[in-house]
Amino acid sequence: MITLISGTNRPDSNTRNVTRILEGIYRDLRVQTHVIDLHVIDLQELPPALFLPEAYATKPPAFTPFVQAGLDASGQVVVTPEYNGSMPGS
Ligand SMILES: Cc1cc2nc3c(=O)[nH]c(=O)nc-3n(C[C@H](O)[C@H](O)[C@H](O)COP(=O)(O)O)c2cc1C
Repeated sequence: MITLISGTNRPDSNTRNVTRILEGIYRDLRVQTHVIDLHVIDLQELPPALFLPEAYATKPPAFTPFVQAGLDASGQVVVTPEYNGSMPGS
């Protein structure tokens, strides 16, 4: 499985639009080859509890599917904007 990560939680982001385009390309490839399984992770859907101070010690259960999708992936494609000279904190 390949995970495609839309790497910002900013609403209406250009990153999400680019991710959608890539998603279409990968889905077309899958139709052609039947070998690519794709999972999209949109950081805008991260649970709000993940951004509470308590999350440093204990992650909210709603975060588990995001982690599992990352762990299960044989490859990851990250779409990310530049925020403050780097990747977004989320
Ligand atoms: C908080 C924030 C910080 C940014 N920092 C940078 C930066 O360091 N360098 C840069 O070239 N653009 C920076 N930008 C501009 C974004 O890279 C640009 O607007 C990009 O298209 C935003 O992508 P998005 O729509 O997926 O959020 C920043 C934008 C935001 C919102």
